[in-house]
Amino acid sequence: MATEIAKNVYWVGVTDWGLRKFHGFELSVHRGSTYNSYLIMDEKIALVDAVWSPHVDEFIAKVKEVVDPAKIDYVIVNHAEPDHSSSLPALMKLCPKATVVVTKNGAASVQGHYHEKWNFMTVKTGDRIRLGQNEVVFIEAPMLHWPDTMFTYLTGHNILMSNDAFGQHYATAFLFNDLVNQAELYEEALKYFANILTPYSEKILKKIDEILALKLPVDIIAPSHGVIWRKDPLQIVKKYQEWSRQKPAPTAVVVYDTMWNATEKMAKAIAEGLIESGLDCKVCHAALSDSNDLMVDIFKAKLIVLGSCTHNNGILPSMAKILEEMRGLRFKNKIGAAFGSYGWSGESVKDIEEVFRKAGIPLVREGIRVKWQPGVADLVTCRAFGRELAAAVKSAG
Ligand code: FEO
Repeated sequence: MATEIAKNVYWVGVTDWGLRKFHGFELSVHRGSTYNSYLIMDEKIALVDAVWSPHVDEFIAKVKEVVDPAKIDYVIVNHAEPDHSSSLPALMKLCPKATVVVTKNGAASVQGHYHEKWNFMTVKTGDRIRLGQNEVVFIEAPMLHWPDTMFTYLTGHNILMSNDAFGQHYATAFLFNDLVNQAELYEEALKYFANILTPYSEKILKKIDEILALKLPVDIIAPSHGVIWRKDPLQIVKKYQEWSRQKPAPTAVVVYDTMWNATEKMAKAIAEGLIESGLDCKVCHAALSDSNDLMVDIFKAKLIVLGSCTHNNGILPSMAKILEEMRGLRFKNKIGAAFGSYGWSGESVKDIEEVFRKAGIPLVREGIRVKWQPGVADLVTCRAFGRELAAAVKSAG
C-alpha cells in the first residue's frame, strides 16, 4: 500500500520480506529488505528512485494508487544499481516523456545498464528543480557507494532522500524508525555500514560535513533501504560519523577454521590468554559463521586474530573468504596476529600475515605455528601469545 510520509509525499516502495542474500549471493540479509521509492505530488510530479525488477508489478501498482504514471514529470535516479533502477524500463514505458534526472556519472551508468534513449537531465550539486510549491535540490555523493550516487533534498518538507546512505536491510511492518525494534534497527544499520560503506569512511565524513555546512533543515531522512528516519533523524548521521572514524573498542575477535581441531585448540588457548588479561573477545569458527556477520565483529574490535591450519600449501577456503572480504573493506586502526597448525609444509600463518599486510593492518608480532596437535607446552605458548596480544591492545590505547 502506498504510504504518505509527508503531505503529498508517498512511499511507493516494496518490502522484500523473503530476501536472504543480496548483491547476488555476496551479502547475507537476515531480516529481508525494502527498496524505497518516493513519489512527490506537486504541480509537477517527481518519482525518486525505483525498485528491483522482480518487484516491478507491485511497485507500479503502488504508483498507480496515487497517480497515473503517465503524469510523472521527473524520474530522479539517485543511483543506478539494479536494486534501485532495474524496474525503470517497465516504468518508463508508462511515462515515456518523463525526464530522467541523474548525475553525469548516473547518465553513463543508467545508459550502460539499459541502453535506452530516455530524456536525460544531468544535474550537479546545488542544482534545483521547482516542482511547484517545493523544490528538489541535488547533492552529488560520488563513491557513496558508486560514482553515480547523489542525494535528493525536498524543500518544504525538509526530506533528505539519501539513497543507500543511512539505509539498512531491514523489512518491517512499519516504515519509520520510531516504530521498530531499536536493537534490530541498529544491528542492521551497522551491518550495512560495515559490509558496504567502510571503504568509503573518509568520503562519508567529508560528505556529512559538506551537507551540514549547507544548513538545510532536515526533518526526515529517507534512504532507499529500510526504515525512514523521522524521529531525531540526525541520530543516524551522528552514528555514521562515529562509525566512519573507525575507532574500534579495545576488544578482540579470534576467527579460525580447523580440520582436526588442532587450530581450534590453539584459538581457544589464545582466547584464554586474552581473557586472563581482562580483554573482551569473541571466538568464531569461520566455516560455521556468516562471513558478513563476522565483518561486523571485525569492524568493532581493535585486535583481529586469524587462524587456519595449512591445507594444500595454503589456508582453508572459509578463511580465504574472510581474508578477502577483510582486505577489500580496508578496516582502519586495527592490529592483527596469525596462528595455525600444520603437518608438513606449514604456509598458513605466512599467508594470513601477507593478507594483513595487504589490508594495511599491522601485526603485533610474528604468528605462531604448532606441528600436528598442540601439546601442553604448545597451549601454554598459545595462552602467553594471547596475553602478549592483549597487552598490545592496552598499550595501543
Ligand atoms: Fe541499494 Fe547500491 O544499491
